[in-house]
Amino acid sequence: MADTATGGSGTSLEQQLDQMLEIERFEPSPAFKRDALLSDPAIYEQAAADPQAWWSRQAESLDWFERWETVLDDSDPPFYKWFTGGKLNVSHNCLDRHVEAGRGDRVAYHWHGEEGEVRDVTYADLLRDVQRFANALKDLGVRQGDVVGIYLPMIPEVVVAMLACARIGAPHNVVFGGFSAESVKERMEFSEAKVLVTVDGARRKGKTAPIKATVDEHMGDLETLKTIVVVRHAGIADVPMADGRDVWYDEVCAAAAPDCPAEPLDAEHPLFILYTSGSTASPKGILHTTGGYLTGVAATHRYVFDLKPESDVYWCAADVGWITGHSYIVYGPLANGATSVMWEGAPDYPHRGIWWEVVEKTRATILYAAPTAIRTFIKWGHELPERHDLSSLRLLGSVGEPINPKAWLWYHQVIGGGRCPIVDTWWQTETGAIMITPLPGITETKPGSATTPFPGIRAEVVSEADGRPVESGQGLLVLTQPWPSMLRTLYREPERFVETYFSRLGKETYVVGDAARTDRDGYFWIIGRIDDVVNVSGHRLSTAEVESAIVAHEKVAEAAVIGQSDEQTGQAIAAFVTLQGDIEGSDELVAEIGGVVAERIGKFARPKRIIWADDLPKTRSGKIMRRLLRDIAEGRALGDVTTLRDPSVMAALESQIQEAQ
Ligand code: WT7
Repeated sequence: MADTATGGSGTSLEQQLDQMLEIERFEPSPAFKRDALLSDPAIYEQAAADPQAWWSRQAESLDWFERWETVLDDSDPPFYKWFTGGKLNVSHNCLDRHVEAGRGDRVAYHWHGEEGEVRDVTYADLLRDVQRFANALKDLGVRQGDVVGIYLPMIPEVVVAMLACARIGAPHNVVFGGFSAESVKERMEFSEAKVLVTVDGARRKGKTAPIKATVDEHMGDLETLKTIVVVRHAGIADVPMADGRDVWYDEVCAAAAPDCPAEPLDAEHPLFILYTSGSTASPKGILHTTGGYLTGVAATHRYVFDLKPESDVYWCAADVGWITGHSYIVYGPLANGATSVMWEGAPDYPHRGIWWEVVEKTRATILYAAPTAIRTFIKWGHELPERHDLSSLRLLGSVGEPINPKAWLWYHQVIGGGRCPIVDTWWQTETGAIMITPLPGITETKPGSATTPFPGIRAEVVSEADGRPVESGQGLLVLTQPWPSMLRTLYREPERFVETYFSRLGKETYVVGDAARTDRDGYFWIIGRIDDVVNVSGHRLSTAEVESAIVAHEKVAEAAVIGQSDEQTGQAIAAFVTLQGDIEGSDELVAEIGGVVAERIGKFARPKRIIWADDLPKTRSGKIMRRLLRDIAEGRALGDVTTLRDPSVMAALESQIQEAQ
């Protein structure tokens, strides 16, 4: 198989992939099945017959200071509680128990820096650093329940900071490094964070961004934020340090005591808040707790990736600032005692073959990446990965957005050499852990389908009209049974939590916000979001938050943002913008608007396309009809325009678009 992918037979790779699409199904190889942790499909029935027994078996693979009394408390849906009465500590489970079992020398992370540096961090190293930093946080006045913000690049200290919080029961609130300092401030304000851990500067493709200085410009005097801890990483010379507020990470660690026993915490103690985008402009603080979350991520990480901690080298190429990083770079892998690769940089620096160089150097066996990255590699050509020895890989994963069958096959052939099963994993920030996925030693996969729910998870596709299961065709994807790693609430917004997820079809049906269809084998095919959430390269944004950033520009009167389908990024932001008075659109204005969005949200949210509009299509009640804007942006025939207040708006827009092209 591997040599057909190189095009040796004379037909193009393209033609071969086309032929393979017709085969459609991929069985795990007998060799993979033989060695897999799970290979008996009966596991699905067993878990379905008694989900609580299944989940408590999973919880038993963790260390508990006190065993739980009740597996699931469902007395007040949708406010479910798991493993109540139980006490444990996430950092103990991720570190101490491995070190105590004599595995302290095992590498937790092979960290690879942008400039070719390599740092191997063992479990014993992490335990030492985490205890010091946990004590340092206590010395800074952080108490159980206090929120700690974390705004760090992909360096080992981000893991140390997260685990130190978990050790003392201070929920962390990590903000992805690609978000702007303004977004950091907003999130620190919403969560009333007491401490923020950040960095002198971040390196990106050979350049250095002065993170601390930028944070200072935006943080203002946030009453609630008492301390900023600064990690030295990029070697920036003049880091502004405010007296009485700012401290150096290495100094506070050096001054702290070395031993910090892990705090026994209630299973439902908050572990972290992670802000994500919803339908409105204000981000939602997804709250995850201790026992259920760790049970969910440890079990899924072990079985979905068929993890053999003694021999596997696992690489999740996401950023810790997203849920993928929380669950599958930090908590799942560490709970399972895995050895991971941690990559600091971009996929094209110092060169476009760097990922494959890292796979070859680390002998990585499992790679978990996003479809947008795979599509980018396809564009760069199969010659780059083929220059490296990728024979160590045995399993590939995909996450974040639907993977188109062609990209799936390319991944399978060119990266996986035709021998690695692919797990296309569907889940969300809210679900905490993977929900719909193949089990690599059991499931026959179909390119483009996330296949079936993980054992113990119940999913359905239901009709939008009456909530009844849809036999064929598309509908709303719902989860119909609580699961341990589910979000517990939206931080400080319990009504919004109920309203967003549990109002449409009752308090026991979690409406995920995606449309999906099932096929006759019961496989799920995820179509995409049904709300005003856009998925750009697997990064989740709300149209409303981008709109509110755009209208902050003084020359803008109104803006409507849509997700336009995009070959590279899945969806791309297109913005229809109406300017004030007689102002004319120009290239400078496009750049300025992009600048405002970068400043308010982050560079990754900048519109790919701005379309000047004299007016926007609105219903009689004044609601913008995005469906029509999508039709127009994607060059389709217009849908029904009769409900518009002024149907001539569409004709004008169409001619404006043509002029621009
Ligand atoms: C949304 C959640 C899951 C961690 C990263 C994103 C989309 C996610 C898949 C997949 C099709 C997917 C959905 C979902 N999505 N994985 N395998 N196939 N779509 O987490 O930022 O909370 O976004 O990502 O639309 O609702 P998130």
